Amino acid sequence: MLIFISLFFPLLIAAHTAKAKVCRVKPLMGGQDDGPNILKAFSECARNGKVVLDKYYVVDTLLMMTGLKNVEIELTGTIQYTPNIKKWSPQSYYMTYQNATAYWFMSGKGSHLVVPWMRTPRWWDYPNKTAGTAGGSSTVFARPIPLTVGNASNVLIEDLTLINSPFWKNFVYQSDHVTYRNINISSHSYSASKTANSDGWDIYRSSFVTIEGSFVDTTDDCVCQYANTTDIVENIFVSNISMSNASNRARIKVFGGNPDPLSSAGGGTGYVKNVTYSDFRVTNVDNPIFITQCYNTPAVTCAQYPSKLSISDVHFRMSIINVRGSSSGSEGTRVVDVVCSQTCNNVTAQGTELVSPKGPATYHCEKVASVGELDFPCAGGT
Ligand SMILES: *[C@@H]1O[C@H](CO)[C@@H](O)[C@H](O)[C@H]1NC(C)=O
Ligand SMILES: *[C@@H]1O[C@H](CO)[C@@H](O)[C@H](O)[C@H]1NC(C)=O
Ligand SMILES: *[C@@H]1O[C@H](CO)[C@@H](O)[C@H](O)[C@H]1NC(C)=O
Ligand SMILES: *[C@@H]1O[C@H](CO)[C@@H](O)[C@H](O)[C@H]1NC(C)=O
Ligand SMILES: *[C@@H]1O[C@H](CO)[C@@H](O)[C@H](O)[C@H]1NC(C)=O
Ligand SMILES: *[C@@H]1O[C@H](CO)[C@@H](O)[C@H](O)[C@H]1NC(C)=O
Ligand SMILES: *[C@@H]1O[C@H](CO)[C@@H](O)[C@H](O)[C@H]1NC(C)=O
Ligand SMILES: *[C@@H]1O[C@H](CO)[C@@H](O)[C@H](O)[C@H]1NC(C)=O
Ligand SMILES: *[C@@H]1O[C@H](CO)[C@@H](O)[C@H](O)[C@H]1NC(C)=O
Repeated sequence: MLIFISLFFPLLIAAHTAKAKVCRVKPLMGGQDDGPNILKAFSECARNGKVVLDKYYVVDTLLMMTGLKNVEIELTGTIQYTPNIKKWSPQSYYMTYQNATAYWFMSGKGSHLVVPWMRTPRWWDYPNKTAGTAGGSSTVFARPIPLTVGNASNVLIEDLTLINSPFWKNFVYQSDHVTYRNINISSHSYSASKTANSDGWDIYRSSFVTIEGSFVDTTDDCVCQYANTTDIVENIFVSNISMSNASNRARIKVFGGNPDPLSSAGGGTGYVKNVTYSDFRVTNVDNPIFITQCYNTPAVTCAQYPSKLSISDVHFRMSIINVRGSSSGSEGTRVVDVVCSQTCNNVTAQGTELVSPKGPATYHCEKVASVGELDFPCAGGT
């Protein structure tokens, strides 16, 4: 598992005129671990200073950086994480949510990261990658996330190209006011293995997160729910997006209920509210509009245990949607699939224009209270 990162990120060019302390990290060479020296540089210069990482560094140690403040970080070199999964599994930073862990955890206030290049070549072809995992990250087989912004506020990350992360690409963890701009993400396997759970972004316990001007070639984000926990996703605005050759476009997925109080798949509470999709174009996408409150839940179970997580105020305002072709063909003429298990309220659509290559478009709704507010004929109210 190799990760090459070359970053340049002036972390908030401080308004300090006094000479900032500069820490320049000298690599040890010969494959030795530069992690401790990098951490030392940060402990000395992470507040009102500057850290320069302009060489080739091997990192075999968790990069845990907390309390960054008014630090300028110039990372124009390369960071190579070691491929030692056995070692990284216990030592990468565990973040509870879906067993996610981090190689590098950055937290603090007022950070500006400009990250030109970050890659994890061939992780998906690593021979033992499935050991101890069912495709997800686990506590015994971690798939660390290359860049985690956690416990942070006022962060801007720009110009990042991120290739073949083992897991999610970006994790925003317990943070606010985080903006990603001009991010180019892709994940591919070079062997017969398929990439899985390779979300572009996962956002947990965070607010005011903006993603703009970005290109994503990967699987998509997920919102996950555990029994006895509450999830809230609200005030989401998705605009000016093009998507091709994919499974699902505008998708909201929520587990059904779960009779097991210790379930890790469904049974939680909360809501998804006030989500607007505006102006998106699809080409060759299986499910242009896809909402379910019975995700991964058999229909019978979902009818008996409806989701306790409500969905409301979801608005589709699109100038043009074209569905041309379907990579699987499995959806036939269906272009809309909205399945609620408790009633979904205030789901509206205007300006949609959906076509299927298989014939006149068809639409499927279940327990949608506002079918009259949709500009396509979707039977199946409450
Ligand atoms: C894969 O696992 C086997 C059996 O545990 C071990 O012998 C082998 O060294 C591992 N290979 C890699 C590349 O870690
Ligand atoms: C987390 O890891 C543990 C131990 O490997 C595993 O039992 C559990 O299913 C994992 N949880 C998730 C949500 O993947
Ligand atoms: C992040 O904040 C949580 C409290 O919300 C704390 O428990 C955790 O230790 C913090 N982690 C880091 C790395 O700062
Ligand atoms: C994204 O990066 C890949 C290289 O990994 C490049 O081929 C592609 O053109 C880039 N896309 C955009 C939109 O910049
Ligand atoms: C709904 O979300 C939008 C962002 O898309 C926000 O501007 C607006 O204030 C929210 N509406 C309510 C009632 O919170
Ligand atoms: C939509 O996105 C395209 C491509 O990124 C951009 O050129 C265009 O300016 C955007 N349009 C609006 C209205 O933001
Ligand atoms: C989608 O697939 C078609 C046919 O394989 C290809 O021509 C097109 O370039 C693909 N679009 C994107 C954005 O990759
Ligand atoms: C549910 O959460 C409450 C409060 O956090 C806790 O006391 C209780 O033990 C939890 N129940 C289960 C089944 O996890
Ligand atoms: C529908 O949602 C919008 C905001 O997303 C809100 O302004 C409006 O009041 C809602 N309508 C109903 C009937 O709840």
